Amino acid sequence: MPSSPSSVETFLLAFHAQHARDGCALFDVGEITPGFGSYDLLVRAVESASRVLDVGCGDGALLAKLDELRPGSAIGLDFSPDVLAAARARLPDRVRLIQAWAQEMPLEDGAVEAVVSHMALMLMDDLHRVLREVRRVMHPGGVFCAVVSGPPHPSEESRRFFSVLRDCLREEDVTPRFGADCFRSVEDIPAAWCAAGFDAPAIEDHELTRRVPADRLRAFFKQSYYPVALLSPAGQAALAARAEEVLRPHVHDGCLSWRSTVRCIHTRARPA
Ligand SMILES: C[S@@+](CC[C@H](N)C(=O)[O-])C[C@H]1O[C@@H](n2cnc3c(N)ncnc32)[C@H](O)[C@@H]1O
Repeated sequence: MPSSPSSVETFLLAFHAQHARDGCALFDVGEITPGFGSYDLLVRAVESASRVLDVGCGDGALLAKLDELRPGSAIGLDFSPDVLAAARARLPDRVRLIQAWAQEMPLEDGAVEAVVSHMALMLMDDLHRVLREVRRVMHPGGVFCAVVSGPPHPSEESRRFFSVLRDCLREEDVTPRFGADCFRSVEDIPAAWCAAGFDAPAIEDHELTRRVPADRLRAFFKQSYYPVALLSPAGQAALAARAEEVLRPHVHDGCLSWRSTVRCIHTRARPA
């Protein structure tokens, strides 16, 4: 653990302490193609590996899939004790869970064959250190596959929601800044990965659709977009009201089909 967590880390730890069991980001039911979601991109990438580490594992949705495929192969790491408690409650004892910072993992060199990470790397401070740690704990030649958030989806509903969110953040003078700059421009990702000892990655963007019940929209956006939680309670209520209004025309049969872009970064650990 760093001597003092950064302001982003302090925010994330507090957020997950409060929401560890809310589970409304709906990635487990999100689809890229029918029956195939963003966790499945990662499961498919590492299906032949006998020991897989999930960095920033959260409440264990991906670990459950990895363990189902190969019982006993998965290890989860996260710095939030609260999400790990939720993961422990859902997973068999054979899944090892480690509470630690990704920048300093308590694992031996070459301890795992493959590493995955879902919607976590883009939040982390000092990405170069995280990537060096990932490389250190991996077998040479092993697969490292990460899903991170991609660029804003071009749909009308996405454009409207983010415009309302930007207005609310501006009104409260909140300027969110999470994670490394390289995630803001796809061209910068290969250099960051190569500098940490990986082959130049293949990068693919996918459209992910999650069906959100209209009465869960507020919880969904709070769980899916951390900047929402940076607003005051009054700001969150204003956002919910305005978002509901602009999204109402897009709700059909009691659900919003929310499309977002996820970015999959797939590579291998370069031999030393
Ligand atoms: C958006 S959640 C994703 C959780 C899970 N991978 C999923 O997709 O269901 C991001 C996770 O990364 C964890 N996290 C963020 N920064 C971290 C760090 N520096 N070290 C370890 N875990 C971290 C958070 O605690 C949180 O559980």
